[in-house]
Amino acid sequence: MSKKFNTSKLSKQELASHLKKPTGEDGKEVGRQMNKGNKHICLNSYNVLNPKSNSLILEIGMGNGYFTKNILSMNPNLECTGLDFSQTMVDEAMLLNKKLINTKKVSFIKGSIEKLPFDNNSFDYITTTNTIYFWPNLIDSAKEMYRVLKPTGKALIGYRSKELMDKIELTQYNFNKYTKEEIEKLLDKTGFKQIATEVISEPDIDFDGIPMSMSGLFTYGLK
Ligand SMILES: C[S@@+](CC[C@H](N)C(=O)[O-])C[C@H]1O[C@@H](n2cnc3c(N)ncnc32)[C@H](O)[C@@H]1O
Repeated sequence: MSKKFNTSKLSKQELASHLKKPTGEDGKEVGRQMNKGNKHICLNSYNVLNPKSNSLILEIGMGNGYFTKNILSMNPNLECTGLDFSQTMVDEAMLLNKKLINTKKVSFIKGSIEKLPFDNNSFDYITTTNTIYFWPNLIDSAKEMYRVLKPTGKALIGYRSKELMDKIELTQYNFNKYTKEEIEKLLDKTGFKQIATEVISEPDIDFDGIPMSMSGLFTYGLK
């Protein structure tokens, strides 16, 4: 059965703007809608990342952090930091994850991918899904991920293909779309090794009344 992604009262331009940076009450609602529309790509990204026990994970652009509990439960002794440049999303993530924050296994911080507020070699895993469309500068952002990743650490980018995104009208606003080859080349240029992409199909989604076949692409590499 296809799921409904309700774009409701917002214009396509407004919705695209909130997908880039959810802000205020409308942004909170868009954040909740994203949890429905992006459930599969988010959970699949964690499966492809496959973090081992006793690891530190950074998720960039975690939205309202609804799925943080899922990555944390994948193995014992995982710790996750969520970073997002939307204060609205950081606040929502902190509200939603109060109990986990109290265990000190989870924290959320405001920041942007092109200048990550972390020391070199800080994380075993870095994951970011549905954010690459909005990166201000691809190579500088990928270099930042590389810098804060520990040697042999794994970084993953989850995204929808350019081909799929071109079928969604609102992605003409704010979105930069990429092919798998472009993302693999980016990771290669940054210095990542053992680069590969997995493509995972999802149930169809009803997007503004149009049923669409969905899939997620997960391109990753090792430092
Ligand atoms: C389309 S939402 C995706 C949220 C979630 N990852 C998902 O797939 O449902 C994009 C998220 O990335 C954040 N974001 C976009 N550009 C960013 C940047 N340059 N640095 C940090 N966060 C960014 C936005 O604020 C938003 O929460």
